[in-house]
Amino acid sequence: KEIFLKDYKAPNFAFETLNLNFELGEEHTIVTSSIHVLPTTSSGKAPLVLDGENLKLVSVKINGEKLADDKFTVSTRHLTLASTPSMPFDLEIVTEIEPQNNTSLDGLYKSSGNFCTQCEAEGFRKITYYQDRPDVMSKFTTRIEGDQKLYPVLLSNGNLVDQGELNDGKHYAVWKDPFRKPSYLFALVAGQLVSRDDTFTTRSGRQVSLRIWTPAEDVPKTEYAMRSLKAAMKWDEEVFGLEYDLDLFNIVAVPDFNMGAMENKSLNIFNSRLVLASTQTATDMDFAAIEGVIGHEYFHNWTGNRVTCRNWFQLSLKEGLTVFRDQEFSSDMGSRAVKRIGDVSLLRTAQFSQDAGPMAHPVRPHSYIKMDNFYTVTVYRKGAEVVRMYQTLLGKTGFRKGMDLYFKRHDGQAVTCEEFLAAMFDANQVKFPTFPLWYSQAGTPLLIVTTSYKAESQSFTIKCRQEVPATPGQPEKEPMLIPLAVGLLDSKGNDMHLSSVKEGASVHNFTNPDGSSVTTAVLRVDKAEQEFTFVDVKEKPVPSLLRNFSAPVRLVSDISDEDLFFLLAHDSDQFNRWEAGQTLGRKLMLNLVALQQKGEKLSVDSAFIEGLRSILNDTSLDKAFVAKALTLPAESEVADLMPVADPDAIHEVRSFIIKQIASSLHQELLKAVETNPSCEPYDPTHKYRAPRALKNSALNYLVSLNEPNFTKLAISEYQKATNLTDKFGALTALSQNPGVTRSEVLADFYEQYKGDNLVMNKWLALQAMSNIPGNVEQVQKLLEHPAFDIRNPNKVYSLIGGFCSSAVNFHAKDGSGYTLLGDVVLQLDKINPQVAARMVSPFSKWRRYGEERQAAAKAQLERITSTNGLSDNVYEIASKSLVL
Ligand code: ARG
Ligand code: ZN
Repeated sequence: KEIFLKDYKAPNFAFETLNLNFELGEEHTIVTSSIHVLPTTSSGKAPLVLDGENLKLVSVKINGEKLADDKFTVSTRHLTLASTPSMPFDLEIVTEIEPQNNTSLDGLYKSSGNFCTQCEAEGFRKITYYQDRPDVMSKFTTRIEGDQKLYPVLLSNGNLVDQGELNDGKHYAVWKDPFRKPSYLFALVAGQLVSRDDTFTTRSGRQVSLRIWTPAEDVPKTEYAMRSLKAAMKWDEEVFGLEYDLDLFNIVAVPDFNMGAMENKSLNIFNSRLVLASTQTATDMDFAAIEGVIGHEYFHNWTGNRVTCRNWFQLSLKEGLTVFRDQEFSSDMGSRAVKRIGDVSLLRTAQFSQDAGPMAHPVRPHSYIKMDNFYTVTVYRKGAEVVRMYQTLLGKTGFRKGMDLYFKRHDGQAVTCEEFLAAMFDANQVKFPTFPLWYSQAGTPLLIVTTSYKAESQSFTIKCRQEVPATPGQPEKEPMLIPLAVGLLDSKGNDMHLSSVKEGASVHNFTNPDGSSVTTAVLRVDKAEQEFTFVDVKEKPVPSLLRNFSAPVRLVSDISDEDLFFLLAHDSDQFNRWEAGQTLGRKLMLNLVALQQKGEKLSVDSAFIEGLRSILNDTSLDKAFVAKALTLPAESEVADLMPVADPDAIHEVRSFIIKQIASSLHQELLKAVETNPSCEPYDPTHKYRAPRALKNSALNYLVSLNEPNFTKLAISEYQKATNLTDKFGALTALSQNPGVTRSEVLADFYEQYKGDNLVMNKWLALQAMSNIPGNVEQVQKLLEHPAFDIRNPNKVYSLIGGFCSSAVNFHAKDGSGYTLLGDVVLQLDKINPQVAARMVSPFSKWRRYGEERQAAAKAQLERITSTNGLSDNVYEIASKSLVL
């Protein structure tokens, strides 16, 4: 059943307080829920409809009296009380559940013998009957009772107010959360866990105890997570003036978790891959991810928990904003430019392609069948770009004013994206009438820019045209406000000072807050066609457009290749330096793909190679930036730009260019490997991460040549590696080329790390993502390997998700890759529908490929949708993928 935003109605009943009692058991768990019910200001009219799924109802009482069977009805999804007494009243519901058999990892379930919960978005209804919606906020008290030996640690939200021993080897704990919260923020954990303890003193002097819980043997691996948590707490105080609001903050790491992590009030639950790290078991990328996600979940305490969403359509209100906040946090901890480049790459490869396919939806979706399917790159990542645009338009100070007003107005409330927008604009006394369209219009806007310089008038004109493409259900679009950040470079490569621009009849002046002139101007493009003219431009400039990726659009401009090389060499905007190289790379790849398809000879022009050479030789550059600049646009990015995607040709071309670069620049690349050796002690901070990034990227290039001396070099790097980043970097390089060396080093790595599940996931992913010919068979074998387990989401994402990212093998012309995925989806759907639905999305782009592939992919989608007993989750993605 599809749910629509336009049908939203406020709840009829308010739940003032909620007392939960859990009797944890091996056969079943008994949940008693006592709710103090009030009418809402607007209503209070029966029926009272409560959500519930897979629950066994034991009893219902009102004001202490058992309700007769004819006073309520129970269906597969609801418990309905046809009439209710006059308010207020007490409702008590007892249900029985079987967490040990809950393989969906949604609601209360067991992971490695411990109890844990995941309630967002609609998992609480698998625990007890409730108004399971984010606009019903209540004060929770949770009592947990269980076997003392099996479950020595009992945790829930808020403060521990009571605990003690009971008969039969049992004990209990009572937790009271002083803040009102929706059910999706509820959490419970019970099991054999040990904590790393630390403290943080907030700037107003509150002493907060911090605890990170894991199985005993993993405690040493929580050091970096703890460091990140303290850094995040400090950062939020400094940058947003936001302090933590309780005396206790818990994080629990669990190995079986559908997503990354969850911001439950004062009891964050994490996928263990985003908590556990050590020199020998995590790469630099893992460390960076841990820092980002620990920050993300912590930041939710204000943007998500203190101010939450009125309904699930508003998800981006908390997720877009919190992703923006974690991006800024990571930028401040490491390198701003490198972080931005990574984020934009992900946006391009994942979000732009979602926006161009059948699952395209606005940042605020209009409808859904299963909310879990809308935890998407669009809601999270495009949503974060929308938040970033406020900051680009209002400036950092203006943005902070908006945030302050948002909390002043809405602390303790469940609100909508309009309220965020209103706070931002009201605080700055501005109105941008077309800005709200970013929330309602799906699709990536196309921004077409042409430029011209007139020497006589010393004026430089930027002509803009915007088109927002049609998406499912949205054939027509309106132009929307695109902040276009522009700089002009003089012939020496320096930024010109910009003072004003004429747009139609109006003149916009630009100055920094301190009154000085700017070198980057933010143009407000909000019409289908528009012209901006800079005056007093003394010489013909090289324009740097969309600096720092100031809007999530596809930019098409008339900037010449020569100017792009100039920007690559000189732009003061680091992001746009990288972007100039990428634009050249995309052009080159598309040109060569056309040649490849015609069977013509390929070649790479020397200007491109020389551009990269000077980047490699520029010792003033951040080495991590150099590594990014050396990376060609992804195959999938190029596929998205073709009328009919041709994965084989794209792969041939990309590999060809890589080899050309490697052979032309082998001296520089060799130097990059030799001058950045694996060194001890390992330090995960950016300064030390950067040389490793460059070295591993250089090694990859060299090994692509498949020459014995470079293979030997990589083997020696593999053996000498003192940390997993270097070890796995060398393994990755060596696994490019099929052959004995590849098998030997993969086997060696397996023997060394088979005891560590998180490292094994990388080993699975590396093989699954491989572009070596005929890899489908190898992935089939890995499905049976002891290192794989279909019930563990991380393993599925590594092996199956990894496999789908190798275009040549997943899109194998004989359809074998599609069949493999179809089989897995159907098997997985019976175990874990949320994860199964995520695995369907690689099919959604099927129309982008040639006829043969279309037919094979469509057949799998039809096979899936016609399966009996399919989950709503998988049905939604598969059926929407089939609609034209
Ligand atoms: N709110 C979590 C976060 O920090 C994600 C929860 C996702 N849950 C789900 N069922 N999809 O982003
Ligand atoms: Zn989040």
